Amino acid sequence: MSSFDAFRYDGKRVVVVGGATGIGAAAAQLALDAGAEVVVMDYAKVAMPGVRAIHVNLAERDSIDKAVDECGGRVDALFSCAGVADGTPGIERINFAGHRHLIDRMLKKEMLGRGSAICMISSAAGLGWEKSFAELSELLDTPDFDTAAKWLVEHNKADYFNTKQAVCAYVAREAFPLLQRGIRINAACPGPTDTPLAQANKETWLTFGSDFRDAAGVRPSTPLEQAYSLLFLCSNAAPAITGITLVADAGWLNAGITGTYPPATDIAKLLLGRF
Ligand SMILES: NC(=O)c1ccc[n+]([C@@H]2O[C@H](COP(=O)([O-])OP(=O)(O)OC[C@H]3O[C@@H](n4cnc5c(N)ncnc54)[C@H](O)[C@@H]3O)[C@@H](O)[C@H]2O)c1
Repeated sequence: MSSFDAFRYDGKRVVVVGGATGIGAAAAQLALDAGAEVVVMDYAKVAMPGVRAIHVNLAERDSIDKAVDECGGRVDALFSCAGVADGTPGIERINFAGHRHLIDRMLKKEMLGRGSAICMISSAAGLGWEKSFAELSELLDTPDFDTAAKWLVEHNKADYFNTKQAVCAYVAREAFPLLQRGIRINAACPGPTDTPLAQANKETWLTFGSDFRDAAGVRPSTPLEQAYSLLFLCSNAAPAITGITLVADAGWLNAGITGTYPPATDIAKLLLGRF
């Protein structure tokens, strides 16, 4: 035993929602390598050896309820990774309402106990959520899956930008009440990452910030490079961290804000609502 063991997952039970491919799959593999027992929930087939696969469609409340019931037991770390791009029917349910409902159901069944942690995935689209917090509070006040999905549709916010804003606001607002139950919640905000989802939208997702990366001599992240931060946030090595959105964008945002990379300044300020 050493103090560095706080980074490990030995004896922990981990659930990765959206772990069939991309960042979620990398998180599931990393959790296995770190010593955890891993359950992967996904809409797609899960090919990874050594994990228990459970089918879930985040766009359907009954499917989420069934998946959570099938999982059962204690969950020490929940990684809420699944996400879809604009143009996918049900995006308001998959990217926000479904994840929130899954967390609520796990809480209700007392599967997430003291010492457990949740990590969601937002995006650069979620940055600057603070300026929309008053309106987003109406969404967060909705009591359940159906009312949250309805609110997003009726307010013309059933899209990638607004669902990721909602994730950041949710994490920030829930951190205190969850901490009172001994549970931490954070989100990661990855920069462009080479995954099937990014490849399917590569004209927008993988070109974003490519001038910055060329100037810095770096490439888009690999899924594993993003998964490292997720695993850290839910580990015992991050006990003082809750309610944050960790920006993992290879420094693009702050190079823009500070003007060390001026071509990123306008868009960085726009995203943060600082004009
Ligand atoms: N790749 C990037 O550049 C990037 C950047 C910022 C944020 N993100 C976010 O990272 C997260 C992971 O995305 P990724 O890039 O690894 O993509 P990905 O497509 O490889 O992974 C997403 C996973 O979600 C699953 N999924 C999709 N719809 C589902 C549904 N209805 N029910 C259950 N599971 C479903 C998919 O089957 C897949 O396994 C997403 O939330 C995405 O918005 C990605």
